[in-house]
Amino acid sequence: LGADWVPLSQDWTNRWCTLPEAYDQDFSKRIHDFETRESDVFVVTFMKCGTTWMQELAWLLLNNLDFERAKSNFLLRRSPHIEHSAIDNKVTVDNISMCDQLKDDRRLIKTHLPAQLLPKQIWLNKRKIIYVARNPKDVLVSSYHFLTGIGLWQGSLDEFTNQFIEDRIIFTSYWSHVMDFYRMRHEPNVFFITYEEMKKDLKSIVSKLSKFLECKELNENEMEKLLEHLSFANMKDNETCNPTELIKKVFNVKTDFQFMRKGVIGTHKDELTPDQIKTVDTWSSNYLKEYGLIENNIFSHF
Ligand code: A3P
Repeated sequence: LGADWVPLSQDWTNRWCTLPEAYDQDFSKRIHDFETRESDVFVVTFMKCGTTWMQELAWLLLNNLDFERAKSNFLLRRSPHIEHSAIDNKVTVDNISMCDQLKDDRRLIKTHLPAQLLPKQIWLNKRKIIYVARNPKDVLVSSYHFLTGIGLWQGSLDEFTNQFIEDRIIFTSYWSHVMDFYRMRHEPNVFFITYEEMKKDLKSIVSKLSKFLECKELNENEMEKLLEHLSFANMKDNETCNPTELIKKVFNVKTDFQFMRKGVIGTHKDELTPDQIKTVDTWSSNYLKEYGLIENNIFSHF
């Protein structure tokens, strides 16, 4: 990778990311060369960390709480997933072009790509980045259900756990994805937050995010309406935010697949065995000790 990819003098040479076959050199170059705008905001996450939740929140802040417009168009059209066409081979829309063509004053672009694969202009021009991280054990369980539900994973949860920590599941390595942004969390163009913090106190996150995005301050009524709109139950019922039916159609899913599954902290506790939890915790500690950190420094709520 060229030197101009490197933010904050990080060294990308040891970074690993499992990507689908369609994410080839040409595709990578198109993402690398993507033209950003000064007003752009990128929502960057590892999958299943609360991306959709954060997208809806950020989109509404950036669009002056225009609930009517939000209800009239799919979130994934309002805030496209830039590398989506390389992941879903049934897709007919080219999402990179879709991002190019967005007419919004402030584009909100979703990506699960790790730092080293993002458009180079993000780093050169310090575009705004919102990064959401989540407890890796919950991410693992949520990803397992998601990928099983859409037919992209056929094995057991035990096999999935091993593949996840061996960086063989799409978008892994999980920890290098998170840590690159955690280390940038004090940069003025980076808003680093966790799913757990959003669950614990969404109101204060909304206020902080609104300042970060330079949006107008919300009054009590607006805040209340926004928090209500963003509740798990309401987002589950909201067909422009909840892509369940769309995904079922595209992936020909016959089971009772639910994109908005549980929406809670600690979902792994119901599903991972004590041995699996120990395996994941050991893997996390081994990764984090290189940074002098333990998991609780980052995810202080569990
Ligand atoms: P679970 O599978 O644990 O329920 P992403 O949008 O990154 O794919 O993340 C999906 C996860 O976020 C799912 O987790 C989903 O239920 C949860 N989620 C989506 N909207 C939410 C909301 N409004 N409140 C809490 N969790 C939400």
